[in-house]
Amino acid sequence: MKKLDMLYEGKAKKIYKTGDPEVLIVEYKDDATAFNGEKRGAISGKGVINNRMTNYFMRLLEGCGIPTHYIEELSDRETAVKRVDIVPLEVIVRNISAGSFAKRYGVKEGIVFKNPTVEFSYKDDALGDPLLNTSHALALGLAAPEDIALIREYVTQINHFLKSELSECDVTLVDFKVEFGKLTGGKIVLADEISPDTCRFWDTKTGEKLDKDRFRQDLGNVEGAYAEIARRLGITV
Ligand code: TMP
Ligand code: ASP
Repeated sequence: MKKLDMLYEGKAKKIYKTGDPEVLIVEYKDDATAFNGEKRGAISGKGVINNRMTNYFMRLLEGCGIPTHYIEELSDRETAVKRVDIVPLEVIVRNISAGSFAKRYGVKEGIVFKNPTVEFSYKDDALGDPLLNTSHALALGLAAPEDIALIREYVTQINHFLKSELSECDVTLVDFKVEFGKLTGGKIVLADEISPDTCRFWDTKTGEKLDKDRFRQDLGNVEGAYAEIARRLGITV
């Protein structure tokens, strides 16, 4: 499969057209941003890890009955995916308080929730991805009620599968963000990525942060944390 024109360049990935209008190629970059692009940098080798880890999780989830956009890993940074229209919602599941939840509600990090929370942000960089509820999403016409219901079902299952996979290598899944898209024909599938950029992973024994918070908070050893998560999952990079 050959990359043709670049369709879009985001903060962490480039998307290319292919000869098939229903197939795109994603290329993962080492670039990293935080705080809606205010903080910029690079995490050496991140593109390779995020590509391989996303594909590892997408294959796992497909096997568990979650439809995804994944087609085939093409190289260490490139993957063929099905073309989708992205549903403009960032869907965040939280098992433990951290990040914007802790800040918004004035609580410490590390509170283990009895039940996971599901929240939506409106995917719009110019607005700073504002938090919204289901009725806001419906009022804005961002998705149909049945799409939102299905997305809630999928993320609950995704949380369950990822949590149990990670717990086997002593990693606690604190929270994560996923995105969904619509295939031609309207079927909803999991899209985008699942990586240390989009999840919070804590070492279960030591509580050490093994994700992009090391970059966001200047904790050091960012590359080492990404490599450690890959190593524990048995992903060779
Ligand atoms: P938050 O606590 O900053 O809202 O982040 C919740 C989760 O979403 C966390 O695992 C990191 C991920 N995330 C993204 O993938 N992209 C983003 O732009 C932000 C702000 C968070
Ligand atoms: N995606 C965020 C940004 O817009 C970074 C993050 O906090 O993950 O820069």
